[in-house]
Amino acid sequence: MPEAETSVANGIGNVAAPRHVAIIMDGNGRWAAARGLPRGEGHRRGVESLRATVRAAGELGIEVLTIFSFSSENWSRPPAEILDLMGLLRRFIRNDLAELNSSGVRVRVIGEREGLDPEIGGLLDEAEELTRNNTRLTLVVAFNYGSRQEIARAARKVAVEVAAGRLAAADVTADTLSSYLDAPDLPNPDLIIRTSGEQRLSNFLLWQAAYSELVFVAAYWPDFNRAMLENAIAEFRGRERRFGGLAARAGS
Ligand code: FPP
Repeated sequence: MPEAETSVANGIGNVAAPRHVAIIMDGNGRWAAARGLPRGEGHRRGVESLRATVRAAGELGIEVLTIFSFSSENWSRPPAEILDLMGLLRRFIRNDLAELNSSGVRVRVIGEREGLDPEIGGLLDEAEELTRNNTRLTLVVAFNYGSRQEIARAARKVAVEVAAGRLAAADVTADTLSSYLDAPDLPNPDLIIRTSGEQRLSNFLLWQAAYSELVFVAAYWPDFNRAMLENAIAEFRGRERRFGGLAARAGS
């Protein structure tokens, strides 16, 4: 039961802070539209929020921060916006990688790597390789990521093992499937935050979110700041996680 170990419920709230926080950075376009600016400006300001959030997460002792940076479904956006987002990712890695590395951040990437622009693929590999021994904070970049696609990839790998006779179909459990996901060694997210007031998961970490606490923040992503992160964590700590069991009651 890995989740039960990540934070302890005491009947009042979670004693422990979240080890793994995942964020759906939503609302860049609406932030820009509200100011009469192009959507690209919202994404650029979104990268600034991201930088500040990574810094805050490290300072707050979060072990893993996962960010939804580009979904499998984002390819349906206009080509100019896709180019913009790809450019921002390239620049983020080129400009920020050295600093992330020197501040002890390990970068991991989840999502479909096949078929990606080779330059982007190379940068993602470089970021993972350069930072592989860092331990202060793991920044998981969900890029070209869709949770159903990730689960389907895992199921295909399990099917190959079964077809090759290395695994019996009867032995396939939830743990087996988990072990074929994109980052099986990481803890499940304790807390998932979505900005912009939307209240859904949008194909993000569906498997891993089975027992995550969800916190929805009204602010658009470019306005997200450290105080909002701290508030979300405080809300998380006020929740009682039961993982399908019974509430712990005082005196019981
Ligand atoms: C949602 O806003 C955000 C995205 C689709 C991408 C998030 C990307 C960034 C913060 C910058 C790029 C990331 C990296 C790692 C460099 P939206 O466009 O859906 O906003 P809307 O719902 O208001 O239109």
